[in-house]
Amino acid sequence: MMNETITEKPDFDFENFTFGVQATDQMLVAKYENGSWSNFQIGPVKNISLSPLAMCLHYGQTVFEGLKAFKTVDGKVNIFRLESHFKRMNRSLERMAMPPLPASCFIDGIRELVNKESHWVIDDPEYALYIRPFAIATENKLGVDASHEYLFMVVLSPLKAYYNRPLRVLVETTYIRSARGGAGAAKNGGNYGASLLPQQKAKQAGFDQIIWLDASEKKYIEESGTMNIMFILNGKTLLTPALSDSILDGITRDSILKLAPELGLEVEERTIQITEILDRVGAGEKVEAFGVGTAAVISPIKEISYKDELFETYVEEDAVMYRIKNKLSEIRRGISPDHFGWSD
Ligand code: COI
Repeated sequence: MMNETITEKPDFDFENFTFGVQATDQMLVAKYENGSWSNFQIGPVKNISLSPLAMCLHYGQTVFEGLKAFKTVDGKVNIFRLESHFKRMNRSLERMAMPPLPASCFIDGIRELVNKESHWVIDDPEYALYIRPFAIATENKLGVDASHEYLFMVVLSPLKAYYNRPLRVLVETTYIRSARGGAGAAKNGGNYGASLLPQQKAKQAGFDQIIWLDASEKKYIEESGTMNIMFILNGKTLLTPALSDSILDGITRDSILKLAPELGLEVEERTIQITEILDRVGAGEKVEAFGVGTAAVISPIKEISYKDELFETYVEEDAVMYRIKNKLSEIRRGISPDHFGWSD
């Protein structure tokens, strides 16, 4: 955890803003050339210049991460699970045939950048400073190949309650997010780009978000929108799809699974047929459904539409998912002890 004297609040409307539009003042940049990462620099946020032949513009060699820094109740800045995000970034880079980053670049670099920008980490339980590390292929070549040159950058952006109202979601039965053997477990840009058209169509049909099913049988639940998905059955069992190479190994997912036993929940990670969930709802069981991810933490789902039938899930104030969200927030803000070692 950083122990930093916090300087004056930036000239920014922290009450009223759209996520991801405003970067803070400083960014980090490193280059990969001749087989190694170097030229690590922190400086003012500025545009980058790329040749139109740069490979990231053509063949999708791009990887990103998303993590958050919080202000603790004793005035420190806590970067949540920095090491886990570093490891996942390198797993994604490997999947996209991109060179791994050294800890000195990712971990030390992010610590230093957040330290310099710590006045953007304000004391508000609903607020976090979102950290967006990303890497792109920059070699100039139209041949389809792994690039020999890359840029790694980190930008920071204020974030407040990402999706806060319970959502209506559509179970997607035409498009899929990812197939076994594909790159769904990696945080590469293409996974998100390919989700936009189905997402737009769901919006046009009156839904906020999608539940993705598996690619081969379209029977098993995978994720929801850009998040992992979880269910709580009868206030007792936390159920989530088991990881595979078509599901992102979410760090919020992992944190909730580790916290769940402390909240008296039994955990089940397994394949889940969409019909199992809907049959339970139909039989009058209390089923909570929610997306989990870094940006929104927990995104409650109030309605699931499957093949034109609508199912209502439990979103009342006493739902267990809200207790999970509070517990996570307490750990991040130093209100509850962090015996998991998640705070940096
Ligand atoms: C997250 O939930 O953390 C995501 O990955 C969403 C992000 C792409 C804004």
